Formats: sequence, structure tokens, C-alpha cells
Amino acid sequence: MTGATTRRTGPEQLRSRIAAELERTRARTALLTEAVDEADLMRQHSPLMSPLVWDLAHVGNQEELWLVRDVGGREPVRRDIDDLYDAFKQPRRDRPTLPLLPPQEARAYLLTVRDKVLDLLDRVAFTDRPLVVDGFAFGMIVQHEQQHDETMLATHQLRAGPAVLHAPPPPEPTARVAAEVLVPAGEFTMGTDTDPWALDNERPAHRVHLPAYAIDAAPVTNGRYREFIADGGYEDPRWWSPAGWRHRREAELVAPMHWRRDGDGWAYRRFGRWAPVRDDEPVVHVCYHEAQAYAAWAGRRLPTEAEWEKAARWDPVTGRSRRYPWGDDDPTAEHANLGQRHLWPAPVGAYPAGASPLGVHQLIGDVWEWTSTPFRGHPGFTAFPYREYSEVFFGDDHRVLRGGSFGTDRAACRGTFRNWDFPIRRQIFSGFRCARDARPEESQP
Ligand code: AVJ
Ligand code: FE
Repeated sequence: MTGATTRRTGPEQLRSRIAAELERTRARTALLTEAVDEADLMRQHSPLMSPLVWDLAHVGNQEELWLVRDVGGREPVRRDIDDLYDAFKQPRRDRPTLPLLPPQEARAYLLTVRDKVLDLLDRVAFTDRPLVVDGFAFGMIVQHEQQHDETMLATHQLRAGPAVLHAPPPPEPTARVAAEVLVPAGEFTMGTDTDPWALDNERPAHRVHLPAYAIDAAPVTNGRYREFIADGGYEDPRWWSPAGWRHRREAELVAPMHWRRDGDGWAYRRFGRWAPVRDDEPVVHVCYHEAQAYAAWAGRRLPTEAEWEKAARWDPVTGRSRRYPWGDDDPTAEHANLGQRHLWPAPVGAYPAGASPLGVHQLIGDVWEWTSTPFRGHPGFTAFPYREYSEVFFGDDHRVLRGGSFGTDRAACRGTFRNWDFPIRRQIFSGFRCARDARPEESQP
């Protein structure tokens, strides 16, 4: 659903688009939770993750809280389970010991909530009330479920045992991609005021001036990352920050998560299948510290969040910021590797239609990209509709990631979308690209 189209269409089109998004999203949730048996759904596959059945009922509970109760003003379906599925009251490591709804009960709960939501969607007036204008609360709930679908996909990746998820491989490269692209000095608009389903942390739009910089035209690949490993990058504290080096030693990091030695080379495990590491794919499952160390080794640095967004949105012809690198149109299968159509990142050069006007490729989809920026509110930020989505995470503890991964839905990803995590995390589908300051002779207009 595009901001551009929602604003132009009437309430009936908005209703049917919301219904379609809700249904499409639920099909993904069903696929991820029907791929394994009941015991597996209840099990915790990693202390970092919830049992899948927790995500499932939590998705229903958020839908009940925001749509049935708040937007609809209707009676609670199951007030008794609110605390169980409150992410702040229940730390992840404790979730498997809670009296969770068993799978069949969780599925029935989601159906009951969804019936009420569809009924209310038929009658709701999309007034100026901030929660319902342009269907915002529905969009927020669609995105919330999509975010948990990506979390559940990450849980699947951590799960031991044979493969249960299947998808065709991503497309092969069709374009040559330059090493890096120069972005001229100047102002651009960061964030948005107009995208109706943009979340609070993407707002408001504001002008940011950046000096000239160069940014990689593609994410860092496995092939390049292997050179860092082979050159002793994990053994040399020179490349690592003090906190990064401490973590690299304590966690005994030697390679990206899910890699193992395979003869002279490396293999990776992807959703239960081992395969030789392919050199032209973006590296995935690295933490911020690994990304930072690689960049230092390469004589470069991570981009700031603003540098990432300018590379992704700034149109050098009009000076405008667009919704996506390719323009304002919603992503299609030609633009980006999104939506779990494929289960790993595509090789560099596979999405020429998704490139930015300056020739930066694969900004959207494939892998979340670490930036060097701590997660904070944009200037003028106001929490909406609840502080616990973004604001409570602001500060120095988290770094921003941008662009979405192969596991991210198109409804939960855009040029302004902001993700964040602790710098030690790598169970998410995280990679990175590098940047550098422009040299003086490159900065001349
Ligand atoms: C934006 C991905 C960091 O999963 O913790 C889900 C999204 N917020 N439910 C997360 C979210 C509440 C959030 N991230
Ligand atoms: Fe959630």
C-alpha cells in the first residue's frame, strides 16, 4: 500500500486494501507456524527467541488491543492473557515457562480476533482521529505481524533439524555493479510527514546537510568478507573497537553465524540445509562489531544512518527524497528481494531495477544494513501511539539498521523505515555496506 495511492483513493478502496494486506500477512504467519509440529511450536530454539506459539498469540493480542478494543471500542476477547503476551512484562528467556495458549487455542484466538476486526473494518469511518486517519492503526498492525513473521523466520533459521521451509533461489545477477558511488555534499530530506503508514520513529521529515561521501554500490559480499577472515581479521584487535574486541573474545567469534569450515573454504547453514558459501552474495548474520571491524580492515567505515538514507532516497535531478531507491512505487519482485519469496540474499547485480539514480544497488531487501548511528528520535519526534514501540529504545544501546532483508515484507519496509538492535546481535538477517569521506578533489562540484 503506497502513501501516494492511499491519499488518492476513497474509503472503500482503503478498506479493501487493508483487508487484502491483513489476509496476505496472515497467510505468511500461517505458513511459518504450520511448517512445524505442535511440540516444536512450544519449544524455545534459542534463548534470544520466543517459542513460535508465543509470537503467534502475541500477534493476535496486539491486534485485539489496538483494533478490537481501541479503534473499535469493543469488549475484550481475552483480557486474561494480556500480561502473558506483553513483551515488556515477559523477558524472552522466560517465555517458554509461561502458561501459553497451546497452538490450537492460539489459532482459534487469532480467528476470533480477526473476525471482529473484519467486521469493524466494514464500518469504521476513517476520520481525522490520528489512530484511524488513512487506516494508520490497521497499517501498524499489519506491519507488526509482518515484523513478527520476520522474527519467526529468524527462529526457523536457529532451529535444529531438517529443513521445513522451501522457496526458489533468488534471481541471478544481470547487471555489473560499480564498487562505490560518490554522493555530492548538500542537504536532503530525511524522514517523512506524508507516508500514511510510516511509524513514529520515521517522522517528522527534516533537512539534513551531509558533506560529500562515497558509499558502496552493493552490500559487502561473502567473498570480500572471507578475505577479512583469511587475513586474520578476527585475530587482530587493531580493527575492532574496545567493546567489539571484548565481545569477539567472549563470544569466540571466528566467522559469521551459521558458518563452518568446509575443506579449504566455508559452508553455511540456511534453514536446515548446508551449502558452500557463495562469494557474490551479501554476507548475512554478522553483528555490528563484525561489520565495524571489517570496515576498518578495508580502510573504510560504516555509513551513518543519514548517509544510508540519502543514498537510498535523494533524487539528484529534482532534489526530492523518494519513498524507495527506484522512485515512489511499491516494491515488486523486480525491485527487491523482500517478503520471504527467497530464503537468502540475492547475488550482487540481481536487482538492477531497484537501483537508485546514483547507481546504488540492493539497498532495499536482501540484508538489513548496519549503520554507525545509535537509535534516537528524529528532531521533533513524538511517540505515537505508544512509547514502547520506539521511544523506550532510544539511547546509545542500539544501532540503527536500514533497508530490510529477504525476510521483510514490503509493507514493513521503505526508504524511511528504521530497525534497531544491540551491536552484538546477529541472529537477525543483518549485513552491511561500507562508506568513506570524499577526498578533497572529489568534493568539488
Ligand atoms: C523494530 C524489529 C526492533 O521485533 O523488537 C515487534 C518490532 N516491536 N513488536 C522488535 C516490534 C514490537 C521490533 N523491531
Ligand atoms: Fe510485538
